[in-house]
Amino acid sequence: MDLGLNGKVAIVTGGARGIGLSICERFLAEGARVVVADMDGAAAGEAAAALSPDGAAALAVTCDVTDRASVETMVRATLDAFGTIDVLVNNAGFTRDMRIGRMSETDWDLVVDVVLKGAYQCTKAVMPTMIEKNSGRIISISSRAYLGNPGQANYSAAKAGLLGFTRAMSLEAGRHFITVNAVAPGIVETEAVRSLPHFDKIRANAEKTVAIPRMGQVSDVADAVAFLASDRAGYISGEVLHVTGGRY
Ligand SMILES: NC(=O)c1ccc[n+]([C@@H]2O[C@H](COP(=O)([O-])OP(=O)(O)OC[C@H]3O[C@@H](n4cnc5c(N)ncnc54)[C@H](O)[C@@H]3O)[C@@H](O)[C@H]2O)c1
Repeated sequence: MDLGLNGKVAIVTGGARGIGLSICERFLAEGARVVVADMDGAAAGEAAAALSPDGAAALAVTCDVTDRASVETMVRATLDAFGTIDVLVNNAGFTRDMRIGRMSETDWDLVVDVVLKGAYQCTKAVMPTMIEKNSGRIISISSRAYLGNPGQANYSAAKAGLLGFTRAMSLEAGRHFITVNAVAPGIVETEAVRSLPHFDKIRANAEKTVAIPRMGQVSDVADAVAFLASDRAGYISGEVLHVTGGRY
C-alpha cells in the first residue's frame, strides 16, 4: 500500500530516541523528510546525522515543547529548511511516577506541561501552515495509561486530557481537511524501559497478560503513526488507535 508520504515533511517532537526515533525512521523509509525536535539537542543532532548523513532529509532542532518561543523557532526552522509542514507528531513525554501523597507539585506540573501544553504549543504553531495548504495530519502519542494507573495520576490525567484535546482539535481542524488523531501504546520496549531494574518482570508480565503475548516494539507504534499520517487515513479523525497487543 502506497502511504503517499513521499516528499512530505513531518515534525516529530521527542524524536531523538525511543518511539519518536522509530517514527522518524519510518517516515524516512517512506520518502518523507523529518524534523527531529527534541529538548536534548545533542541526541537530536546524532539522530538526524544517523537518519540522513548528507542532511538532506533530516533536520535536528533543539526544542522544548512547553516553551512557546522555542516551538515557534522550531517551526520557523522547519519552514526555512523544507518549505512546508505536512505532519506533526506530538510525541515528547515522560513519567514522574509517585503515589499522590508523595507526588510533588513539580512532578505534577512537569508531566502535565510536557504532554498537554506541549501538544497545545506545537499544534497551534503548525496550524497556520496546514490551514493555508488545506491539508495536514496531527497525531499525538497518548498511552494506555489514560485509563488510569496507580502511581501515575499526573501521567494518566495528562494522557486522558490529550484525547480530549485530540477530539476538540479534530472538530476545529476538519473543515481544513486536517485530521487529528491519537495513538495509545501499551508498554513499549524502548531503551529506557529495557534499562529498568525490573525489566525482566515487566516483559514476563506482558507475555502473560497481553492478548498478543509479547512486549510492544517501537516499530509497532511507528507503523500506526505512519498509517494515520498517510493519504490512506484522510477520512479518519478524532480517533484513538490502541497499540497495546489487545490489552486495554
Ligand atoms: N515507552 C512506553 O512504554 C510508552 C508507552 C505509552 C506511551 N508512551 C509515550 O510515547 C512517547 C515517547 O516515549 P518514549 O518511551 O519513546 O520516551 P523516551 O524517554 O525514550 O524519549 C522521549 C524523548 O522526548 C524528549 N523530551 C522530553 N521532554 C521534552 C520537551 N519538553 N520538549 C522536547 N522534547 C522532550 C526526550 O529528550 C527524549 O528524547 C511519550 O509521550 C510517552 O509518554 C511510551
